[in-house]
Amino acid sequence: MKTTKQILLVASAVIGALANYSENNATYFNPTLPGWHSDPSCTRVKDTFYCVTSTFIAFPGLPVYASKDLTNWKLISHAWNRESQLPGLSYNTSEQQQGMYAATIRYHDGVFHLICEYLGTPGGIVGVVFKSTDPFDDAAWSDPIRFKTGKIDPDLFWDDDGKAYVATQGILLQEINLKTGDLSQPPVSIWNGTGGVWPEGPHIYKKDGYYYLMIAEGGTAQDHSITIARSRKIYGPYEPYENNPILTNKHTNRFFQTVGHGDLFQDEAGNWWGMCLATRSGPDFKIYPMGREAVLFPATWNKGEWPVLQTVEGKMSGWPSLPAVSRDVAGDGPFNTDPDVYDFKGGPIPKNLIHWRVPREGAFSIKNGLEVVPSRNNLTGIPFGDIELSGQRGLAFIGRRQTHTLFTYSVDLTFDPKSVGQEAGVTVFLTQVNHIDLGVVLLESNSTIKTAKSKGQLALRFRVESKNVPIPVPATNIVPIPSHWKSPIRLQISTRNNITYDLSAMPASNEAAAIKVGTASAQLVSGGNGTFVGSLVGAYATCNGAGKGLDCPEGGKAVFGRWRYTGKGQQVAQGVIVAEEGRS
Ligand SMILES: *[C@@H]1O[C@H](CO)[C@@H](O)[C@H](O)[C@H]1NC(C)=O
Ligand SMILES: *[C@@H]1O[C@H](CO)[C@@H](O)[C@H](O)[C@H]1NC(C)=O
Ligand SMILES: *[C@@H]1O[C@H](CO)[C@@H](O)[C@H](O)[C@H]1NC(C)=O
Ligand SMILES: *[C@@H]1O[C@H](CO)[C@@H](O)[C@H](O)[C@H]1NC(C)=O
Ligand SMILES: *[C@@H]1O[C@H](CO)[C@@H](O)[C@H](O)[C@H]1NC(C)=O
Ligand SMILES: *[C@@H]1O[C@H](CO)[C@@H](O)[C@H](O)[C@H]1NC(C)=O
Ligand SMILES: *[C@@H]1O[C@H](CO)[C@@H](O)[C@H](O)[C@H]1NC(C)=O
Ligand SMILES: *[C@@H]1O[C@H](CO)[C@@H](O)[C@H](O)[C@H]1NC(C)=O
Repeated sequence: MKTTKQILLVASAVIGALANYSENNATYFNPTLPGWHSDPSCTRVKDTFYCVTSTFIAFPGLPVYASKDLTNWKLISHAWNRESQLPGLSYNTSEQQQGMYAATIRYHDGVFHLICEYLGTPGGIVGVVFKSTDPFDDAAWSDPIRFKTGKIDPDLFWDDDGKAYVATQGILLQEINLKTGDLSQPPVSIWNGTGGVWPEGPHIYKKDGYYYLMIAEGGTAQDHSITIARSRKIYGPYEPYENNPILTNKHTNRFFQTVGHGDLFQDEAGNWWGMCLATRSGPDFKIYPMGREAVLFPATWNKGEWPVLQTVEGKMSGWPSLPAVSRDVAGDGPFNTDPDVYDFKGGPIPKNLIHWRVPREGAFSIKNGLEVVPSRNNLTGIPFGDIELSGQRGLAFIGRRQTHTLFTYSVDLTFDPKSVGQEAGVTVFLTQVNHIDLGVVLLESNSTIKTAKSKGQLALRFRVESKNVPIPVPATNIVPIPSHWKSPIRLQISTRNNITYDLSAMPASNEAAAIKVGTASAQLVSGGNGTFVGSLVGAYATCNGAGKGLDCPEGGKAVFGRWRYTGKGQQVAQGVIVAEEGRS
């Protein structure tokens, strides 16, 4: 029980502080947006900060988080929340991490603008600008204005004369007409960075008579870094800073690696801050199921000088003051690190639950529980195969980000399958070829498993799919469901320690009867085919390829109730787990 002891030891100080963490507001823990939250872009309007992060093919996509204190971030909307905003794009996307790449959020003339680009469609990259005057409301996000681009990571910058500019990977600059999406031609190369691969993720800031161009370089893995250049004219020539990079953790032993791709903004008191992405992997970079997460760092930016960014670590201190702690933020989504306590007795699907691609219409509904119409393709499906089995028509999967190193997640499943192959369960899901599942499945009866049903045997099945991961995939384990178990069945995923998941099942009415069906390393959902994404935990229903078209055979509907996710600990350094990230 070494882990438990460690947690309690470290946690006691933090829990004590959490109850009253505004006392000293100079210390906080990273990540401030834990879980899969890459490429953060942020801005402030009055007393509220807004950030958006990348979501690739997940839907709804482009979550907008709001905060008044930079550490409590509430999910207030998704800019891409309706299939009709981009008809057919999701269905036409075959790969696991195409879709919505890095966005930029800015506020101009009373309107929030969120610029992004969608990859993976037959017609190439689709540039998109969503607009809203009320970012607390999904419906207020417009259908996007589209623009044609060959490059990722668009920035949006207005000059004092009102002209709007888009800088993209490269780094290329174009003027944009935000009514039509027309771009000035040809794109102008304004900087190639300092020599690192992939100069990308640009943001332009105008300050003290200079255009500052801050970018990411080195690729989004261990060599990631932030560099900067400036010019008196927007099209350059740009002069690089002699002390680049201004932020990186490359070639260090820090627990937070891949630090890069950031954005800068000021609080109301005029202090500068930045958010960027980082991976909690340590330098060995093997186990990081949450992928790239968003971290906060203070900055100093004196008049006429270059910005100085504070090194990213788990525990940040030394800054005079964060804005006062506040959870008084509008909107109906949860704060990012809040537990899920969902009984699905009514109301809409909670905002933090997302899908892999746009789901089939009507596949998820809340009646007396969360009813899920199974998809023919299971969580793996046949990628790149027939569109009906590839997953492109949406997986019958709904999940939330793993936001904690240590957590427990469970749901109660009511399921009475009628034909062999019908299955419903829970999963730690990174991509269609990297997931760890525990399902209730109707199997063909055979001599080794005693038949309880006329048509087949109801069993618990632990099954792992993991491609491009350098460790063995655990064997499938099948356990017949004890005949005395009463419905619903509680399926649970919990962390045994910072690197291992346990998957177990029990009758909801009798936790003491729990059976551990499988154990799996978090490395199975780290990197693999999902180096840009991060793990989700959630529930699914499938008939494993039976049926026709998009329809499974009758009788395999799954009803989920009592959905619980409780965060228990955050690893913030090698050997250090705190009870919950926050301020001390
Ligand atoms: C927080 O700390 C201050 C100063 O020690 C104290 O006055 C206040 O009552 C505390 N608040 C809570 C909620 O504990
Ligand atoms: C989807 O792909 C099909 C087949 O290539 C094409 O006809 C259709 O126009 C595409 N739709 C979109 C929205 O890209
Ligand atoms: C960046 O590199 C490209 C290709 O070598 C070159 O055409 C372009 O002029 C360079 N841009 C700048 C600003 O130096
Ligand atoms: C945070 O610290 C600053 C000065 O260090 C102080 O002015 C402010 O009131 C503090 N806020 C809270 C909530 O303690
Ligand atoms: C019966 O099912 C079990 C579990 O799937 C399997 O291990 C075994 O090989 C099967 N036996 C036969 C004869 O099919
Ligand atoms: C997984 O990655 C491998 C190697 O890059 C690639 O060949 C394969 O197509 C990928 N599979 C999926 C489902 O994306
Ligand atoms: C998952 O679905 C694919 C495609 O229908 C099928 O080949 C595979 O056997 C299924 N996996 C399981 C465990 O049934
Ligand atoms: C995480 O797991 C590794 C491997 O067991 C261990 O060395 C490390 O101390 C653990 N970290 C924490 C914070 O418990």
